[in-house]
Amino acid sequence: MLDNIQQIKKIDSQNMFSVLEKFPEHCEDAIKRTESLILPERFRGPEKIVVLGMGGSAIGGDLFRNWLYDKAEIPVIVSREYILPKFVDKETLVFAISYSGNTEETLSGFLYAVKKSCMIISITSNGRLQDFSRQLGVPTVEIPSGMAPRAAISYLFIPLLIIFEKLGVISNAREEIIDAIELLKRIREEIRLSTPTEENIAKKSAMEIKGTVPLVYGQRYLESVAKRMKCQFNENSKSLSGYDFFPELNHNETVGWEGPEIFTKMFSVILLRDPDEPPELKNRIDITIKLILEKKAKKVHQLTARGSTKLAKMLSLLYIGDFLSVYLAILYGVDPTPVKIITRLKKELEKKIDIVSSIEKEIRELAKK
Ligand code: PA5
Repeated sequence: MLDNIQQIKKIDSQNMFSVLEKFPEHCEDAIKRTESLILPERFRGPEKIVVLGMGGSAIGGDLFRNWLYDKAEIPVIVSREYILPKFVDKETLVFAISYSGNTEETLSGFLYAVKKSCMIISITSNGRLQDFSRQLGVPTVEIPSGMAPRAAISYLFIPLLIIFEKLGVISNAREEIIDAIELLKRIREEIRLSTPTEENIAKKSAMEIKGTVPLVYGQRYLESVAKRMKCQFNENSKSLSGYDFFPELNHNETVGWEGPEIFTKMFSVILLRDPDEPPELKNRIDITIKLILEKKAKKVHQLTARGSTKLAKMLSLLYIGDFLSVYLAILYGVDPTPVKIITRLKKELEKKIDIVSSIEKEIRELAKK
């Protein structure tokens, strides 16, 4: 089934595969678009960072937070909320990210940041966020429209790293990105649609986990990649999924596996491994697999990160996971792109309470001042 390209193209009616194949080039384009961004001098030296967004537009914030963990002395939080945390002030740099530019929680958080005089940078392809940013003179990374937001992850993540380098908070980000892009191009050859199943780890993995609920277990900085994979299973494969990460999961989720097999055998576990795991962590994961997962889960599947930098490792797994979720969609006979229920929910919500129009009015007033 996964090698029948004609049949697959019929199911993938909006070409998710071709967008995925362009991921490395989209990363290159994201660098260019961000490098030309002009930032006010006062943006140098922020004390706190908030990444504001929802769903596919927020996950880049989680990747950024994990990547930055041992690199910068500034705290980063990701806000998926209508309001921002109380601590935000004019020393806080807020990244307002919405692919469509019309997500109400993000627009509401944006207004909050404006009122708190935060330094704001928007990332969007369109919509009100673009419009509000223009009215208020907020620097904006303008990204191409026409993709599913989650498929635009390159444009929603890479700019954060480049901006941090531009602001002098970190160095060598560009170098690390270029190195990761080269690796992604090599991985693409191994996992793309035209590579047959027997040589294709993403296709093989999809066949393995088909018919189970995948739980993705990350570790340390791969927590965000595990979350990304879970969300890709939800949105692309239309499958329930969950995620957790080591070492934390040994203190709670592990006990859930003591439950009856009638439940535990519904799940497969995908473990995200790092070839350079510190010995205490490797030991912990290996023991958890032996003692619990191999006995209780339907399948235990391991995916190993590639590359020599943290970014390369994160993106290598993310890329395999993205393809894997789309192959799983094909095995289920579902189109990976549309997320009908999200679209419907957004419409229904808007009918009841039109938050966006009232935000629009407030922004117009603030822009006049
Ligand atoms: O992937 C998706 O389509 C969703 O998770 C969206 O990203 C989410 O609903 C937020 O929309 P936007 O990214 O346009 O702000």
